Amino acid sequence: MARKSMVVLSGAGVSAESGLATFRDNGGLWDNYSVYEVATPEAFHKNPKLVLDFYNFRRQEVLKALPNLAHQALAAAEEDFDVTIVTQNVDDLHERAGSSQVIHVHGLITQARSSVSGELFDLKGQDIQLGDQCPEGAQLRPHVVWFGEYINHMDEAVELVAAADIVLVVGTSLTVYPFASLVDCPRPDAQCYLVTQDIDAVPSGFDYRQGPASVELPKLMHELKQLA
Ligand code: APR
Repeated sequence: MARKSMVVLSGAGVSAESGLATFRDNGGLWDNYSVYEVATPEAFHKNPKLVLDFYNFRRQEVLKALPNLAHQALAAAEEDFDVTIVTQNVDDLHERAGSSQVIHVHGLITQARSSVSGELFDLKGQDIQLGDQCPEGAQLRPHVVWFGEYINHMDEAVELVAAADIVLVVGTSLTVYPFASLVDCPRPDAQCYLVTQDIDAVPSGFDYRQGPASVELPKLMHELKQLA
């Protein structure tokens, strides 16, 4: 029998137990930094060093972090399901846990991007310094989608969710669009689950498993494995 397809929509909460700050929890990144000073094209134009420093700091945190039991449970699910992860996260912890199909809609902090050609460059753990230029002579930027910019791969994400047998939303407040609109795309007969610590409103049709992803995801994957 064909393997069921599982699409995972993940956010910062899946990496919280790896020590990476989320955005909107108490003490999160947006409690300590202003989005408008570090996460918009205007901010980069106005004060590129402040923006570069913000992402250099976060990149070093990512490099120090290790995948947790939640990332590992999702990677292990590939034994029984065709799994695609569509993540808002710019860390590479899903890949480092072993997930083979990962789509980063908000970019990947381990890469730099030319703001002229869009070409990507693997930073190999290095910071981006003021004065580091792309081949076209412009200041290199982090390969991270800023507020006010288009996100990557949204059409592909909609198609994947609309075709999925199982849709799993993990560790996201579902407050940022258009990513959050993906919860409206599952088929009526898809099995839909939400794993997160806290949420303002559970999307219609989703089975809510409240708690830490490192606890709730392995439990849920064990349940689903019986139905594979
Ligand atoms: N286990 C499960 N869920 C958790 C955990 C945990 N250990 N810790 C926190 N959470 C949940 C929180 O309850 C919250 O619902 O993860 C979610 C984190 O929400 P946000 O901080 O808003 O992060 P996210 O939803 O990924 O933000 C989306 O906003 O700022 C932009 O581009 C940025 O990609 C980011 C986007």
